[in-house]
Amino acid sequence: MKKEIVVSGIRSTGFLHLGNYFGAIRNYVRMQEEYPCYFFVADYHSLTTHPDPLLLKPNVYRVLAENIASGLDPEKVALYVQSDIPEIPELYLMLNMLAYKGELEKTASFKEKARNQPDNVNAGLLTYPTLMSADILIHKASFVPVGKDQEQHLEMARNFAQRFNHRYGELFPEPHPFNFGEALVKIPSLDGQGKMSKSENENATLYLADTDEVIRKKVMKAKTDQGPSEENTPMPDYIQNLFDLMKLVSGEEVIRKYQLDYAQCQIRYGDMKKQLAEDMVDFIRPIREKAIELQKDEDTLRKIMKSGKDKARDSASKTLEEARKAMGINFYC
Ligand code: TYM
Repeated sequence: MKKEIVVSGIRSTGFLHLGNYFGAIRNYVRMQEEYPCYFFVADYHSLTTHPDPLLLKPNVYRVLAENIASGLDPEKVALYVQSDIPEIPELYLMLNMLAYKGELEKTASFKEKARNQPDNVNAGLLTYPTLMSADILIHKASFVPVGKDQEQHLEMARNFAQRFNHRYGELFPEPHPFNFGEALVKIPSLDGQGKMSKSENENATLYLADTDEVIRKKVMKAKTDQGPSEENTPMPDYIQNLFDLMKLVSGEEVIRKYQLDYAQCQIRYGDMKKQLAEDMVDFIRPIREKAIELQKDEDTLRKIMKSGKDKARDSASKTLEEARKAMGINFYC
């Protein structure tokens, strides 16, 4: 086992999709063999958009089940729920003293949310990156497997860690985003507009819970055109996206065939999409079926959550003690 610590989380705001899988979970599954890992459901983060309280529990249970169905082994990692670890909000409070209004307001995710929900620009939204930094720093993580959309948040986590170390003495390693393929991943939506997402663009996002029929329908609806008329025409974005999705789930020969067909102006997009749909069905079906089974057994999920909580609190309480001491909050000794 290597010594660097790994932390990552997924918000419980809806159904997990291929972006979550290929941006994050695929790395979790490999990293659990090599590093001490802490993976969690970010339920506090989901509160920034005021979800229906009745939906929180099924959402948290489903995210846990989908992580395990994708290959996470709760025996090998700490798999827990963020709100089970009170040390996280305490460190968040401390880090907020080192986070400045100007830099928080400039965060891309804050600006986007403030634009999309102008009636609910709350302080939790503004300080989203400090809570995320607390999630990471509470275990002194070095590697954080995430998709490309989280890059700026990781940069902020590094800044807060440096600021803390500079002011109070060396405590936190610098956390870096991580992907086995090196460059961070952004899985595009099927309509070629933006990325796959839990809460937006649902018809152009493939969810791990989608049935075979729904997967086929969504893929067959993906935007194409009449095909290139001249050899070696560069691909428009929406066609490139289809090839990018194919690279995730189809065999090399299949991909080469369609690339060659495209280059020689013989591509039949209907056939290509049928192939892609079947490969997606084969990929998603076992994960979906396993996740459904796991969600039927709430007792086991509760045991997993509890054991993850114990492992995570063990590590978190040590870090918090050190942070309090470094800041001078040790009044009983
Ligand atoms: P969330 O819940 O939006 O997404 C979970 C993970 O999936 C990745 N992801 C994608 N990757 C590639 N292509 C896509 N289309 C795509 N969509 C989502 C995300 O990059 C992420 O890795 N703020 C985080 C949750 C969080 C967290 C943390 C992550 C809270 N605290 C501490 C790491 C460390 C979020 O909203 O992810």
